[in-house]
Amino acid sequence: MAAVEGTQTEKWMLIGKNGWLGGMLIELLKVGNKNFVLADSRTQNRESIAAELDEHQPTHVLNASGQTGRPNVDWCESHQAEALRSNVIGAMNVADLCEERGIHHTLYATGCIFEYDATHPIGGPGFTEEDTPNFDGSFYSKTKGFLEEMLKSYSTTMVLRVRMPISDDLAPRNFITKIVRYDRVVNVPNSMTVLTEMMPASVAMAEAKLTGIYNFCNPGAVSHNEILDMYREIVDPSFTYENFTIEEQNKILEAKRSNNELDATKLMAALAECGVHINEIHEACRLCIGRMREGLIAEHGNNYHNTLPKKLSQM
Ligand SMILES: NC(=O)c1ccc[n+]([C@@H]2O[C@H](COP(=O)([O-])OP(=O)(O)OC[C@H]3O[C@@H](n4cnc5c(N)ncnc54)[C@H](OP(=O)(O)O)[C@@H]3O)[C@@H](O)[C@H]2O)c1
Repeated sequence: MAAVEGTQTEKWMLIGKNGWLGGMLIELLKVGNKNFVLADSRTQNRESIAAELDEHQPTHVLNASGQTGRPNVDWCESHQAEALRSNVIGAMNVADLCEERGIHHTLYATGCIFEYDATHPIGGPGFTEEDTPNFDGSFYSKTKGFLEEMLKSYSTTMVLRVRMPISDDLAPRNFITKIVRYDRVVNVPNSMTVLTEMMPASVAMAEAKLTGIYNFCNPGAVSHNEILDMYREIVDPSFTYENFTIEEQNKILEAKRSNNELDATKLMAALAECGVHINEIHEACRLCIGRMREGLIAEHGNNYHNTLPKKLSQM
């Protein structure tokens, strides 16, 4: 297993403190009783990031910053320079500065850089960490694909390919919340990342100072309909949805979306060495949606149904 030599005293630095994943990492660092600081700099400001690294001298940097676009990645189509500044220039600065200083660096990246193809059809072999990105149908994915190729040259960096992240609550960025709100959804099996299981795993992998690329998803692939059926069964029996085709979906989006399955073999071997267990994706989703229901009851009581997200067309 590739790893950077460890030091006895850990100090962690988080970049991306105001983001969705960044917020979860802050909680995990607190719960883990880690010594940590939150970076303030914009990553494209190399001198500013360098000064923070030199001031705090972290042993581990977690980079959960990136331009994801609001309300969604379509934003990157019309803001290409901004997307490059964060997702390529900024991310490269952090990797490069950590390399220079021998600091272990974890980047929360994306697996949305692949799409099913003739050698990786639906239900066939998943894309491995050795495969070169084959999806650039959105500018967001294009930036992430460029980046990954360059990051392979850095020896202190670990790249985690997160995909379609799923949280236990109905946060707006949660993949489940997104598809619950759409009037029509495609139905394609995909690799996905159940955050309650995977974010602690990422900290364990950083702690072990693993390096290189990891497909950072629960093993297996789950379809949109399988998830929505679980949501209806566990959270909202009155929920309904309709499907449409990828071609129909493309007509209503600025940019295409990737659909793929990532091979989890390398990740599972690494997690076994770290002593971390994660569930197959269907099991992980079922457990997650169960926690979602429990959370709704705890917050709103048994009559939580009128608090559930509405379809976008009904707002
Ligand atoms: N959510 C997803 O669906 C998903 C899926 C796969 C991978 N990922 C990746 O995981 C990472 C974190 O995602 P997230 O969902 O937590 O995104 P998020 O909620 O949009 O948070 C990203 C954070 O990064 C900050 N940021 C952006 N550019 C920056 C820069 N140049 N310097 C410093 N901070 C910067 C943003 O701050 P400002 O708001 O101030 O710009 C924001 O707080 C991203 O790289 C994303 O591409 C996300």
